[in-house]
Amino acid sequence: MKMQYKASKLRDFSNRVLMKVGVPEEEAEIITTTMIEADARGIHSHGLMRLPIYIQRIQKGYIRNEAEITVEKDNKGTAVLDGHFSAGQVVATKAMDMAIEKAGEYGISAVSVRNSNHFGIAAHYALKAAKKNMIAIVMSNTAPLMPPTGGAEKVLGNNPLAIAAPSSGKNPVLLDMALSNVALGKIIFAKNKGVLIPDGWGADKSGAPTTDPSSVLDGGFVLPVGGPKGFGLALMVELLTGVISGGDFSKMIPSMYDLSQKQSISHLMIAIDISFFMDVDRFKGLSETLGGYVKNAIKAPGVEDLYLPGEIEFGVEEKRMTSGIPVSDGVLEDLNKLASSLELPFLD
Ligand SMILES: NC(=O)c1ccc[n+]([C@@H]2O[C@H](COP(=O)([O-])OP(=O)(O)OC[C@H]3O[C@@H](n4cnc5c(N)ncnc54)[C@H](O)[C@@H]3O)[C@@H](O)[C@H]2O)c1
Repeated sequence: MKMQYKASKLRDFSNRVLMKVGVPEEEAEIITTTMIEADARGIHSHGLMRLPIYIQRIQKGYIRNEAEITVEKDNKGTAVLDGHFSAGQVVATKAMDMAIEKAGEYGISAVSVRNSNHFGIAAHYALKAAKKNMIAIVMSNTAPLMPPTGGAEKVLGNNPLAIAAPSSGKNPVLLDMALSNVALGKIIFAKNKGVLIPDGWGADKSGAPTTDPSSVLDGGFVLPVGGPKGFGLALMVELLTGVISGGDFSKMIPSMYDLSQKQSISHLMIAIDISFFMDVDRFKGLSETLGGYVKNAIKAPGVEDLYLPGEIEFGVEEKRMTSGIPVSDGVLEDLNKLASSLELPFLD
């Protein structure tokens, strides 16, 4: 069963919970917005389902309830920020705002962040720049989840990467992806359904590729998207986030669900001001033309529609902002347990 809620109701609930543990209203609003956006876009793995773990980590002092962000280096188009373990969403928002401002002045900018936390969906930050007629590249590292190609030990995160570009079409073009082939949740789903998983999704604990979901879940691994190419991309994202920011990377980062220690997560925000390259409206028109080539391409048998990156999620979001956002029974139960522990009204 799934209950549907208006975005405003979920927003009020989440803000109340965050403010109860000392998060200032403005910062609660930023954290909440990324979660509601994720749920609205159908990315429930990064929606309100994460609120209980964020609160636990705030209560432990692993995520600061009030952000403290310092600018460690500031040099024309580049900057390095230290998030001092503030909420990832708040730190990443400040970093992207700074990247947008710098790109407006210098044409291109890169703002690197260390000592942040989980920032939710990378799309949120990339879209901020696309709405200002800029191209954005956003990335983050995570706790290790994947082995290198041929390995049998978790060394690399499924490091999310988002690239957004404006278009005169209905929406910006927005690629937003993890660098694992699939989330672990899809492997759990296959196991529960009693079906095999496709080649390339997972390996068993010895590192051997497998199509048996149980072997993946029993000490095995999710694998990088596209084999060694995805492994290479995940490694480069580590270099462009944890290494270049002076933060933690790879095996230095504990799981978000390890409640015995802090996580130090790094991000990189790159913004490109299109007007330094060409007329912005012309770019947006050409971006739409490119989209048209994709949308109008000859379809393979049985295929009804071709989509641009981000298009499916924009469509789901548009519907759900009027019809309501579904919350699964399990997530609802967890949210109400959380509300009860904080003596707050339930989400009913
Ligand atoms: N903060 C973190 O640590 C972290 C870690 C991993 C992932 N994430 C987030 O998780 C989310 C989910 O990532 P994912 O890789 O599971 O996403 P996904 O596999 O659902 O989609 C990846 C991309 O493929 C596009 N796509 C999907 N089907 C398509 C089709 N038929 N035609 C054209 N394009 C299509 C989507 O629009 C999207 O841009 C992202 O928002 C990511 O930022 C965050």
